[in-house]
Amino acid sequence: MPYNFSIQKNVDLTRFNTMGVQARASFFVEAGSVQDLTQAVEFARKSNLRWMVLGGGSNVLFRSDFDGLIIQNALMGKEISEQGDNIQIKVSGGENWHALVLHCVENGWGGIENLSLIPGSVGAAPIQNIGAYGVELQDVFAELEALTIETGEVQVFSKEQCRFGYRDSIFKKGLKGKVIITSVTLALSKSSQVNTSYKALSDHLTRANIAQPSIKDVSDAVIEIRQSKLPDPKEIGNTGSFFKNPVISVYHFDQLKSEYSELPGYPVSERQVKVPAGWLIEKAGWKGKREGDAGVHEKQALVLVNYGKATGEEIWNLATQIQRSVKKQFDIDLTPEVNIIG
Ligand code: EPU
Repeated sequence: MPYNFSIQKNVDLTRFNTMGVQARASFFVEAGSVQDLTQAVEFARKSNLRWMVLGGGSNVLFRSDFDGLIIQNALMGKEISEQGDNIQIKVSGGENWHALVLHCVENGWGGIENLSLIPGSVGAAPIQNIGAYGVELQDVFAELEALTIETGEVQVFSKEQCRFGYRDSIFKKGLKGKVIITSVTLALSKSSQVNTSYKALSDHLTRANIAQPSIKDVSDAVIEIRQSKLPDPKEIGNTGSFFKNPVISVYHFDQLKSEYSELPGYPVSERQVKVPAGWLIEKAGWKGKREGDAGVHEKQALVLVNYGKATGEEIWNLATQIQRSVKKQFDIDLTPEVNIIG
């Protein structure tokens, strides 16, 4: 059967990854429908190629060329259903996340305003349960649809089935490489309470003299905070936070606290504390450091940047040096938040 899409060969992925590293894919297809996705995987199978789906390319580091098929999820469209103040919005996986947030904010549909300006696609959002400024995707998640590779069927996944965790879901674990997310349905509301629990956000709103923030005020504030700290991938290559914030035992935290009294920590259970990786990396002396074109952002040490021509391997080399030095100084293992390919 002829394919609906064209299969491109030897494609430069620089503009498809926000880190802006140069890597080549031996094959590349843009899939605009579920049928395209099915056929693309079929093509990979027949040709004995490894394959991966790429969304906005904002959470991936290519360490080398990709010897296989890159499938770009380009499924587009939105379906909205309203019931009183409740809005259900079903969004195709290839849509841009931030454009969706802006659309919802403009319409007064609350729930995802704290997730403004996160680069990437809608289909990628559940994979790592994107989160920022006190809200995670799971807080507004209704269900998603995904193509199951083995059966070729589109299956509905409930929130429970997605097994969301901190920057985590079943799609990073047991179902990795087994399904492709085709749409995500969110439950939003016209009368939702804004969430200003995150200190940096409430401080920002207080400084701006906004006592009763609207959805739009929260979105604007988040955009301003992000722009002040995080580099714009269009100007400096980056993938947001490179590592996850590690969770350590209370015992370990207390030990560190006796040496570093200013160490921040957020309890996640009775026995565990989450500590900001950005603080650890800064304390280990890496903030603003640069090796060639690979660097640690000067305003947010958790963000690794590509000043121009850094290779994926150079970025990875910097990342592993940071891991080693944080391990040595604090006895903490930093785990990448970004998908490392190759
Ligand atoms: N900090 C430092 N030095 C730094 C950076 C941070 O000391 O260079 C300390 C500060 O004490 C600050 C604390 O770390 O109070 C937390 O910093 P920030 O509010 O910037 O948040 P983060 O923990 O570094 C997380 C997410 C971000 C998200 C922000 C806001 C992870 C891995 N990262 O960063 O998500 O935008 O909170 O909610 O959980 C992303 O996932 O790509 C991302 C950008």
